[in-house]
Amino acid sequence: MELDASLRLRLAQALGQAQKRGWVGKKQLDSYIDHSLGFARVTHLVPEVAVDLGSGGGLPALVLMAVWPKCRWTLVEVSLARAALLELNCVRLGWADRVEVCHADAHSLRGDVGFVGCADLVTARSFGPAEAVVAAAAPLLRQGGELIVSAAPDADPWSGAMLVAHGLATDQITSTKPRFHHTRKL
Ligand SMILES: C[S@@+](CC[C@H](N)C(=O)[O-])C[C@H]1O[C@@H](n2cnc3c(N)ncnc32)[C@H](O)[C@@H]1O
Repeated sequence: MELDASLRLRLAQALGQAQKRGWVGKKQLDSYIDHSLGFARVTHLVPEVAVDLGSGGGLPALVLMAVWPKCRWTLVEVSLARAALLELNCVRLGWADRVEVCHADAHSLRGDVGFVGCADLVTARSFGPAEAVVAAAAPLLRQGGELIVSAAPDADPWSGAMLVAHGLATDQITSTKPRFHHTRKL
């Protein structure tokens, strides 16, 4: 999974705006772009409808929007300032027609008929504890839809009982570097 150099540069410019504000870490932006590309390597599908929870400065969503140019995205972000920059960056990147920046608590979407059961893919990076990610993501997935979440190098697979309670399959946590939790809606 690679991006052409000009697209990578445009992404780095957009992510750099967030980095200046402290909303993206201090490492080289290329390393964050590469980490985000890892989500695309894990999935078994080409999503048409995707949701990113707690998008912050735009990771991994902005990178994945570049990977799948036909996919429609909702970027959910509770901070108004971060949501505003996300929206601006989507306009700058020319993707405003296929992205909605949703300034809301991700947990509020589980009661919204416009979102429930619609997503082929839900992503999250550094969103919060497993239980919170799963509780927010599971209702949004269609049957067979996938949830991919960044994992720490020493992470254990998520509890099977917790996943089943939310209608999700066993965690196929990857052994790649970086690692990802990976489950799907039963
Ligand atoms: C640690 S940052 C990670 C941001 C980005 N995903 C990344 O990896 O750089 C977590 C983000 O999630 C947002 N957030 C936390 N709880 C949330 C919630 N319940 N609903 C929506 N956004 C939330 C925060 O405002 C913050 O921007």
